[in-house]
Amino acid sequence: MAAFEVCEFGLSFPNPIIAGSSALTGNIDSIKKLSAAGVGGIVLKSLFEEQILMASRAEANKGGVIYGLDEIDDYIGYYERKHSLAEYVALIRAAKQETGVPVIASINCASEGEWTAFASDLEAAGADALQLNIFALRAQDLGAIVRAVKSRIRIPLIAKIGYYHSDIAQAVRDLERAGASAAVLFNRPYSIDFDIEKMALTQGAFYSGHEEMAHPLRWISLLHGTTGLPLFASTGVQSGDDVVKMLLAGATGVEVVSAFRRQPESVISAMKDRLGEWMQAHRFESVDAFRGRMSQASSRAPAMYERVQYMKYYGDLQ
Ligand SMILES: Cc1cc2nc3c(=O)[nH]c(=O)nc-3n(C[C@H](O)[C@H](O)[C@H](O)COP(=O)(O)O)c2cc1C
Repeated sequence: MAAFEVCEFGLSFPNPIIAGSSALTGNIDSIKKLSAAGVGGIVLKSLFEEQILMASRAEANKGGVIYGLDEIDDYIGYYERKHSLAEYVALIRAAKQETGVPVIASINCASEGEWTAFASDLEAAGADALQLNIFALRAQDLGAIVRAVKSRIRIPLIAKIGYYHSDIAQAVRDLERAGASAAVLFNRPYSIDFDIEKMALTQGAFYSGHEEMAHPLRWISLLHGTTGLPLFASTGVQSGDDVVKMLLAGATGVEVVSAFRRQPESVISAMKDRLGEWMQAHRFESVDAFRGRMSQASSRAPAMYERVQYMKYYGDLQ
């Protein structure tokens, strides 16, 4: 029987397939289903820094009372933040009670503002770790946010970033220097599309496709062994084969959302079955035994991992 267990930053995940942050991890019923189906950990739906601010502004615009005064706005902001937080704290408690796997609270953020005070409440509620989904574009902002939150909690802090950074390797180094316990590569940005009949802007694909895993696959392959941070893969992981690929690249685990949108129970068990079959066929007794085997550092053709041009194919066109 293959050992799927992954131990990192003081937490033990029974397997490397983690339910990523989404609506599915925002209510206790579906969290219970994911846990019963055998995920290795759960990242709760994020509290949005902006969502909380918007909620307090909406409240401020309700009629009948004279708002716009600093102390009233402050009070409403405080009430809204307390209220959203109370629900979230209850979700953390329930998830801890109902599941036996690590429960990771999550916040979407773009600054190191006053919201960082919430972090200690999430820790007090029993979250095993906190994951920040950071929108900041500049690497120095990533470090500042991580340092600000780190100063408020003792549980591991995981930083999830997007791929819109001019230097992803530097961004990961900055996270490490600032004290993050792990990084998640990558958040998937909201995408746009056009309706050409109405000539209107529309929403692009809501869920990822398999081909999108090329981004985290490349970057985890490149960074494995160059950073002390455990790296989790997010975006495009749809199958057991994809899980194996990310682990071979060097991922500690995968955070999956899109693939769980339909019948997560059967997808989770298919992923685990495939991982087990593959490990057996290749005689690996644990995921640690093959993690990073196909990273750039382990490769005899390391330059290929950095190749971005299809020289062969473009060449043939001439
Ligand atoms: C409906 C939906 C809601 C999401 N909500 C969050 C969120 O609250 N916090 C977060 O960090 N990521 C959120 N994400 C992003 C996912 O966690 C994940 O990074 C992204 O979907 C890529 O993974 P996938 O290819 O497995 O879907 C959401 C994604 C979807 C589709």
